[in-house]
Amino acid sequence: MSIIDEAQIIEALATVLDPDLKKDLVTLCMIEDIRIESGNKVSFTVVLTTPACPLKEQIKQSCIDAVKSHVPEATSIEVNMTSKVTSSCDHHHCNHDRPLKNVKNIIAVASGKGGVGKSTVAVNLAVSLAKTGAKVGLIDADLYGPSIPTMFGLVNAKPEVVDKNIIPLEKFGVQLMSIGFLIDTDTAVIWRGPMASSAIKQFIAEVDWKELDYLIFDLPPGTGDIQITIAQTIPLSGAVIVTTPQDVALADVSKAVSMFRKLNVPLLGLIENMSYYELPDGTKDYIFGHHGGEIFAKVHGLAFLGSIPIDRAVREGGDSGTPYVLDHPDSAPTKAINQAAMEIARQVSITNAMQTEELS
Ligand SMILES: Nc1ncnc2c1ncn2[C@@H]1O[C@H](COP(=O)(O)OP(=O)(O)OP(=O)(O)O)[C@@H](O)[C@H]1O
Ligand SMILES: [Mg+2]
Repeated sequence: MSIIDEAQIIEALATVLDPDLKKDLVTLCMIEDIRIESGNKVSFTVVLTTPACPLKEQIKQSCIDAVKSHVPEATSIEVNMTSKVTSSCDHHHCNHDRPLKNVKNIIAVASGKGGVGKSTVAVNLAVSLAKTGAKVGLIDADLYGPSIPTMFGLVNAKPEVVDKNIIPLEKFGVQLMSIGFLIDTDTAVIWRGPMASSAIKQFIAEVDWKELDYLIFDLPPGTGDIQITIAQTIPLSGAVIVTTPQDVALADVSKAVSMFRKLNVPLLGLIENMSYYELPDGTKDYIFGHHGGEIFAKVHGLAFLGSIPIDRAVREGGDSGTPYVLDHPDSAPTKAINQAAMEIARQVSITNAMQTEELS
């Protein structure tokens, strides 16, 4: 027979706020499967909006504290943490025909400037998110220099085509699609303007993703027709801007920020890549200037998602076909990437919650 009843547990958990969504866990429907065994052994499940939640431990502890203080009769409290990723398609984007069904959130990784490390960051973010348990895909649509085949060691791989749908390849827990798997890049170089845009549109529409929580879109450099086509063709949950400390001084990065703002794509934040080089004695050499990205983020009202240092192994990871974060789990660049990945997942959850609220 239960001494404690479910209503007491609900009441206790209704005092715990999600720090980001600023509402209690009961109102947010984040509590499931409350059980009371032997009268006073309590267990329940907290359903987060992402497995990459940086506040997971904090929320878990707050739940334990709340039950302890409101229901002192509880002799044991077991909290199971799980997640169900929310979708940007729960709100306005879904009103139009979705070219990417099965995909909950699409995140563009962009920069107005070439060579700042977009692909490196996109690949490692994808792997980092997948390691948290999220279902992740990665796509590039760079007709003139696709990166995914090389960076995943799949240069000669060809995806299957079933009923005119292209089936993504899968490696390191990430579903992968690159325009480089399908076309000969020497041919593509002659495509320009509308032809390139329509090839990309067709390519995006024909990929048959298995369920995805996050699809990372490694955008080609620039802010021209192709980038605008992509941002208008697919419902982006948001964009992440990548820059080096030096390149923020250039108009290109500001142009990318303005482009997304004009297209009403939420900006999830800025990552500074190649921030510094760590010397053997541990001191940091800020080769391309100090804090450029952080200052730029502040000036443009963007969240600063972190700094990734220059590291020879990051470059080698890109060339060898094994993404860096897999081989160097405890290094400074991996820590920065993991943190940025969690922060991006968090911003996506917040954006989705805000937009769903606006609709209701
Ligand atoms: N933090 C880093 N440390 C060392 N090398 C890096 C780092 N980030 C990127 N690189 C290297 O810099 C080069 C450019 O990176 P990458 O291809 O990711 O840039 P990009 O912005 O995607 O370029 P593009 O504009 O051509 O698409 C690559 O050789 C990559 O391995
Ligand atoms: Mg690239």
